[in-house]
Amino acid sequence: MEKQSSAQDFMHGSIFVLLHRFVEHTYGTGIWEKVLAGAGVENTGYQLHEMYPTDDLFALAHQISEFSGDSVYDLMEQYGEFMVPDLLQMYKKYFLPEWRTYEMLLYTEEKMHKAVRMEDGRTAPPRLTVTKQDKNRLVIDYYSKRRLSGVAVGIIRGIARYYHEEDKVTVTRLSKPEAEQVQILVDFNW
Ligand code: HEM
Repeated sequence: MEKQSSAQDFMHGSIFVLLHRFVEHTYGTGIWEKVLAGAGVENTGYQLHEMYPTDDLFALAHQISEFSGDSVYDLMEQYGEFMVPDLLQMYKKYFLPEWRTYEMLLYTEEKMHKAVRMEDGRTAPPRLTVTKQDKNRLVIDYYSKRRLSGVAVGIIRGIARYYHEEDKVTVTRLSKPEAEQVQILVDFNW
């Protein structure tokens, strides 16, 4: 993943707070401070309801990649998967308890990302078009100038794990990882 964002682009604090949690959970305490120092970012105490430069996310991701040896793309997938339980906890009033992976994916755009935009008009979650190809397959078209398809794939896997359906759900990215428009197939082996 190259640094693609412009200096004007900002992202919701949850993205940074959860990255911090991901790093501490995966690599232990004390590492985050080293990542912050290495990335040379201005903000160090990320707050949930603030907005921060997308460039910070890229700088932090590159630093974690150097530290861990994993590619930035792989890290973004792991981070996307990790963040799901916390993200769903934060926005739990917007989804129904009877939903499972299929419904969460189907309604993410019209319920979840819509709620994110409504709660804070400064946010710009990616546009997701989710199409029911048949009862066993959803096609998710991701579009974002931030080119974070790794996070998208990770979140989809994380949603399946959240509902204990990871054995039944296969996620396949069809486009190049660094693309702005990425098509992702989600197959359900019921
Ligand atoms: C199909 C499931 C989902 C996918 C593929 C997905 C994908 C993504 C990606 C890749 C980003 C990073 C920003 C970008 O790429 O432009 C993002 C941002 C975000 N997503 Fe989602 N997401 C999903 C579900 C959810 C759910 C269930 C929530 C919970 C409400 C959520 C909340 C957010 C928030 C708060 C942001 C930050 C927005 C911003 O700073 O502008 N997402 N999403």
